[in-house]
Amino acid sequence: MDIQNWRELFPITRHYSFLNHAGVAPLSKPAAEAMRAHVEQSEDRAGLGAGFYKRAEQVRRLAAAMIGAGPEEITFVKNTTEGIGWVANGLKWRPGDNVVTTAVEFPANVYPWMALRSRGVELRMVPEVDGRVPADRVLAAIDSRTRVLSVSAVQYASGFRMDLAALGMACKERGVLFCVDAIQALGVLPVDVRAMNVDFLSADGHKWLCGPEGCGIFYCRRALLNELEPVMAGWLCMKDALDFGHYRFEFVETACKFDTGSYNLAGVYGLGASIEMFLDVGLDRISGHVLTITERLTGGLREKGYRIISSRAPGEASGIVAFASDRHDHEHLRRYLEDEHRVVIAVREGRLRASPHFYNTVEEIDRLVALLPAH
Ligand SMILES: Cc1ncc(COP(=O)(O)O)c(C=O)c1O
Repeated sequence: MDIQNWRELFPITRHYSFLNHAGVAPLSKPAAEAMRAHVEQSEDRAGLGAGFYKRAEQVRRLAAAMIGAGPEEITFVKNTTEGIGWVANGLKWRPGDNVVTTAVEFPANVYPWMALRSRGVELRMVPEVDGRVPADRVLAAIDSRTRVLSVSAVQYASGFRMDLAALGMACKERGVLFCVDAIQALGVLPVDVRAMNVDFLSADGHKWLCGPEGCGIFYCRRALLNELEPVMAGWLCMKDALDFGHYRFEFVETACKFDTGSYNLAGVYGLGASIEMFLDVGLDRISGHVLTITERLTGGLREKGYRIISSRAPGEASGIVAFASDRHDHEHLRRYLEDEHRVVIAVREGRLRASPHFYNTVEEIDRLVALLPAH
């Protein structure tokens, strides 16, 4: 498959140059088709003969394969925040414990930890310097009372790609649990929870995975499944869950212990089809293309006098290019591009942000640069 074939998987290409996958991405065609088929089946025949939950098990395996986990370590979440909240509320805390994160996280990875203040848990937030939060600065905030390090794989407002392997290794050596908000990485950058020593990971499907909003994945390392308590007891998480009348209060021993009741099956169908598409195309290929076109974009923007906020150093670059103008109003530029030229980018934290995906072309990148006023 080449880029023209990939573009056909994204009908939005007929209407827009969509360069905001770090925001809410378009549904991929396979995701939309899978969801439509699920809706039609549900309308015409309810669940009869459909094997809805068999498909959910397949999707669990696909999600596990995508991040190098085992299927028993994966379950579905309604969003990134929910999975992070499961970790924050499922560990046993002692007053004086602390959690380390950065000062530039999306709030999904802040408030669940801040809420632990009432239990005597301190949140330490490591600041960004020049669009970077290097691993050594993060690790310097860890001390003997640090229980968890929780970071985004890629920072939403700068595009800074955290060194998950270095952070995970250091956490392992120091006995600190390592939690990753992976929503800005899954679908565009390879993530391997084993190689990176990730203990917990959460990500919704609506950004780079091009799946629906409201259905994502949560990973809990097998060895920690006993340690992390479910925040509530549901029915689907119990052993013999389908033996409804026998109230055997015993949680399953897989990540399904965090399940409560029925799944968002339309979401699971959409997410599954998208993950299948990404595995087919190949994440190395996808990240290679995205890093190439974002490099071209930063070069073009620099030539026009824009300040590049995102680090482009090897290992630190991602699919997000954050940049700034000292002369032009950012919101005005964003609206001009979208309303007059159907080029979609975003404004975040006082920066312009472009986030192209694997089906975006060099021509689209050059057009964005050409449309932006020079300094
Ligand atoms: C890093 C990061 N985490 C999480 C989210 C969204 O969280 P949720 O899936 O809980 O809505 C975003 C959305 O912008 C994000 O950029």
